[in-house]
Amino acid sequence: MKVLFIGDVVGQKAAAKLGKALPGIKLSEGTELVIINGENSSDGNGITPHSAKMLFDMGADVITTGNHAFKRKEMDAAFEERRNVLRPANFGDDCPGAGVFTVDFGYCALTVINLMGATYMPPCDNPFKCADALLRKSGAKNIIVDFHAEATAEKKAMGRFLRGRVSAVLGTHTHVQTADERIVGGTAYITDVGMTGASDSIIGAEKNMVEKFIRYYPQKYFPAEGECEVNAVTVEIDVSSGRAVSIKRIAQNI
Ligand SMILES: [Fe+2]
Ligand SMILES: [Fe+2]
Repeated sequence: MKVLFIGDVVGQKAAAKLGKALPGIKLSEGTELVIINGENSSDGNGITPHSAKMLFDMGADVITTGNHAFKRKEMDAAFEERRNVLRPANFGDDCPGAGVFTVDFGYCALTVINLMGATYMPPCDNPFKCADALLRKSGAKNIIVDFHAEATAEKKAMGRFLRGRVSAVLGTHTHVQTADERIVGGTAYITDVGMTGASDSIIGAEKNMVEKFIRYYPQKYFPAEGECEVNAVTVEIDVSSGRAVSIKRIAQNI
């Protein structure tokens, strides 16, 4: 089974461009299943029912999110209704939705787990203990983890912690694709898949964000305009064992 995992989509224009490019990417990469991190897919950050629908309409099978999952209140009901829109599992049971979803192909199944880092991130339950508890009660063989985290070391630690226990640990949130993809012990790993958004931007945002760092004065978040790129990875899984066979980075203009 070959899975296409697309890094955080930033804004509606990037989502629209991705929608046009996605059929071609799926065809050229030969992927059967698409996971998209949609936590920034609405303009002004967060995810809305409208931006989630866009991602589903273009071919997402599962949408993952992160620290911006609950930024838009109108999304709470959608997290409950659409179980294939995930919020980090370690936000806790009091929050709407769930952090785990299984796509059943009949001949095999793929489980997607969404977790959020605890270092330099909003308060959440411990992601390592959460992952361990989920895996202990899950009988799934083919598992992809979206680990949405800020700290490189925490992401590396999660990759090491879940080595041999899941098919892939894919980092998101920092919006810059890293070049450390590898497979160790049957688990594919990359520190960050990157983002899908404007190439000339501050991790997807407009240049007013520079002011935030000069004056330490909060700035409104606008997705940047202009040329757009998609950052993604493909992960091929041997479904008889759940072990990753390949991981390949994608970074192309769309
Ligand atoms: Fe994030
Ligand atoms: Fe993001």
